[in-house]
Amino acid sequence: MRILVLGSGAREHAIVSALAREGAGHIVVAAPGNAGIAAEAETVALDYTRGEIVADYANGNAIDLVVVGPEAPLVAGVADALRARGIPVFGPGRAAAQIEGSKTFAKHIMEVAGVPTGRAVRAATIEQVEAALDELGAPHVVKADGLAAGKGVLVTDDRAAALAHARHYLQQGDVLVEEFLEGDEVSLFLVSDGHDVVPLSPAQDYKRLLDGDEGPNTGGMGAYSPLPWLPDGFVDEVIATIALPTVRRLEAEQTPFIGLLYCGLIVTAHGVRVIEFNARFGDPETQVVLPRLVTPLSELLLAAATGTLARLPYPRFSDEVAVTVVLASEGYPDAPVTGREITGLDGLSDVTVAHAATVRDGDGRLVATGGRVLSVVATAPDFAQARRRVYRALESIGLEGGQYRTDIAARVAG
Ligand code: AMP
Ligand code: GLY
Repeated sequence: MRILVLGSGAREHAIVSALAREGAGHIVVAAPGNAGIAAEAETVALDYTRGEIVADYANGNAIDLVVVGPEAPLVAGVADALRARGIPVFGPGRAAAQIEGSKTFAKHIMEVAGVPTGRAVRAATIEQVEAALDELGAPHVVKADGLAAGKGVLVTDDRAAALAHARHYLQQGDVLVEEFLEGDEVSLFLVSDGHDVVPLSPAQDYKRLLDGDEGPNTGGMGAYSPLPWLPDGFVDEVIATIALPTVRRLEAEQTPFIGLLYCGLIVTAHGVRVIEFNARFGDPETQVVLPRLVTPLSELLLAAATGTLARLPYPRFSDEVAVTVVLASEGYPDAPVTGREITGLDGLSDVTVAHAATVRDGDGRLVATGGRVLSVVATAPDFAQARRRVYRALESIGLEGGQYRTDIAARVAG
């Protein structure tokens, strides 16, 4: 197949690598990609948020399948433009992508579909926020309604900080004040063709910047998969009570969800609750889920794009475990310092490196261009070995001011 992957992060690098690993002779093109992706696939500079541009490229280059990585093109309606031209695309249209693009839309769908989630109050003014904070009590959870690149959520005991966060995001739209939920977090990915879903293997993401879950929320500092502590039947329960009702509700609203339904879940003492939905693969969880996938990824994505998922068996995963740790730039997430050279990648063994924000400069040096720079990934028979491999590799990678967490997957490493 000729497959076009939209995006430029470590998630897209993991997708490109998984497609290449199939050994099926796919031609994979990434737009725009990054320096790591360019070593494995053709890259092309396209404005991937513009549907007509992407559709023209796909038609002109006999693309069989477009895989949309990030949320921005989904919310911008790129998948709609491709579908209108008959091009198979893995990624929901603008309307269904609102499940990620608008937290109030997501809450509405969950309410109508009877999906368990935290109680939330929508607020358009600071007075409404104050009333909601009083009603729901501390710890306070304040969420921007729209996309905020992982920075829209504040969880805090500090009422003044909660109000300041709300005041900031009220300039852009509504905010949600949500009930605080306590428990272990799970990221579960479901491939959906708009009617049926199949699950990938659960993963856990580390959202906070610092060890011990301290510091600000980030896009994600590391992940591991699978989750040995999950109860039996967990995935089936999530499919029955969360994923299928959501997908069927969107289908009933004539906005079918074709793509990756990312269920951000919390396992509370009172049962599983949805914290958020995303309309695309998670980053960095994808970097630990796809390396364990035995079933060819392209088969799943094409079946979803063409409405034939029910004919496929559930995806199979290797017994090996996977751990990834993100190397971030100095100053991330508030003010990442970019333009610094990355060294030491060539001599690495036992690991793979998914590039997130890298470019080759005129002298061929690898340079960091963003906050999260790369994900070091290891698979191994157990978590202790996978962790050893990742952290040994990180010690030999050079990036001035680079930061990473040292406790990723420690809880499962025994
Ligand atoms: P989100 O961007 O919605 O995934 O939120 C970012 C992080 O904030 C989540 O991964 C949780 O750790 C935390 N969070 C979000 N909503 C809640 C909630 N209702 N209760 C407790 N923690 C939450
Ligand atoms: N790792 C969280 C996300 O992809 O949204």
